[in-house]
Amino acid sequence: MFYNIDIEVVLTKNSEIKRKTIIDLVEKYLMQIIVRPNSVITVRGEENICFYKDVDTIIVGEIPNYDKSFVDFSNLNINWFVYKLNTEEPFHQNEEDGNDGEITISTQLILPSACLLNMWENLFYDNDIKQNLLKYAQTMMEFSDKGVDNNIISCNRVILLHGPPGTGKTSLCKALAQKLTIRMGKRFGSGILMEINSHSLFSKWFSESGKLVNKVFSRINDIIQNKNILVCVLLDEVESLAHARNQCLSGVEPSDSIRVVNALLTQIDQIKRNSNVLIFATSNITETIDLAFIDRADIKQFLNNPSVHAIYKVYYTCINELIKVDVIKNGMLDPIEYIINNAKSPSTETNKLLDICEKSLGLSGRSLRKIPFLAHALYLESSSSLQEFLGAMEQAVIKEISERKHLKRLE
Ligand SMILES: Nc1ncnc2c1ncn2[C@@H]1O[C@H](COP(=O)(O)OP(=O)(O)O)[C@@H](O)[C@H]1O
Ligand SMILES: [Mg+2]
Repeated sequence: MFYNIDIEVVLTKNSEIKRKTIIDLVEKYLMQIIVRPNSVITVRGEENICFYKDVDTIIVGEIPNYDKSFVDFSNLNINWFVYKLNTEEPFHQNEEDGNDGEITISTQLILPSACLLNMWENLFYDNDIKQNLLKYAQTMMEFSDKGVDNNIISCNRVILLHGPPGTGKTSLCKALAQKLTIRMGKRFGSGILMEINSHSLFSKWFSESGKLVNKVFSRINDIIQNKNILVCVLLDEVESLAHARNQCLSGVEPSDSIRVVNALLTQIDQIKRNSNVLIFATSNITETIDLAFIDRADIKQFLNNPSVHAIYKVYYTCINELIKVDVIKNGMLDPIEYIINNAKSPSTETNKLLDICEKSLGLSGRSLRKIPFLAHALYLESSSSLQEFLGAMEQAVIKEISERKHLKRLE
């Protein structure tokens, strides 16, 4: 069986090395070490690696349906992506809020951005959700770029992610925009992530919403003129639009916000006509999304709280990070592939962690990422063995779950 793997080589800011030269060097290096699929190798500061001045990070992609836990380069076709990260901070488009203060109506980030490094690799879902989303998005962009007639093959370039809070919707949109920019690097020189702040656009006390919508979109329209830039527009938490609209419909707030919501939807429809634009929307409320443009979303992906295996991956990376910085001493966990493939019987620590994962079912990705911190802060003095740390994590999970039950009762 022949597999494909994507390998990204993130160059340092000042590197002037040729693509071919660095690919040869990195390939030789990877052959000598043990490489896991979906992993990140930090080269920065590693003076024993000969190309450390040229390379910041190497990102090894996933290999769908691969049954080995290590990458075997002998029967792999490698797709190389060599690029530099943009280190500029996000640019905030601010406006006066009418009360001597300022609000941010949109945020722009040039892609690929250093701010989003590793985000994709650290989001874990089952069933190839990420790979499929990337393929959908890539196909959308290729079709529109080639001028496929939208009336024949419907494709609006709108992706909606929905699900409970803390399931990684916002992060996944941003990470997807970054990945897409990298993967389509030959077609687009760079990308821009344009995050529209729906909350401040539709804040209840704000009467200038109409003008603000226009300001946001005049900026977007400026940017999309450059067809070499991939423009990803993120409308986060679109339920706030639906909320504004419903309030008008029910007459609770007889203002002009319904016009504003409609203006926003019209603007979205217009920018969608440009072949270099992709629109992401997220919503925390699954039941009440009935907005006009949501119906036009080509892809609606539900994201739920992580499964046991996904939880294991989150904890595994957290614990390895703490082992790396010496907060946890003595101990090693089995990678998830061993467990999935039943490669060998899990170690005592691995079994313990699996047990903690079972207990953590129902927690969101956001809550999971706090558990190692809580474990250390609440139940441990200083550095600890892996076994002690797992004991503390278990206590932290039990506490978190009981807190949540308590909060639910108060609702
Ligand atoms: N499936 C997941 N795997 C790993 N981390 C996750 C997952 N879901 C959420 N997280 C983490 O939780 C945090 C919050 O995610 P966010 O994107 O803000 O969620 P949402 O937009 O759905 O509320 C992020 O730090 C993210 O890394
Ligand atoms: Mg969010």
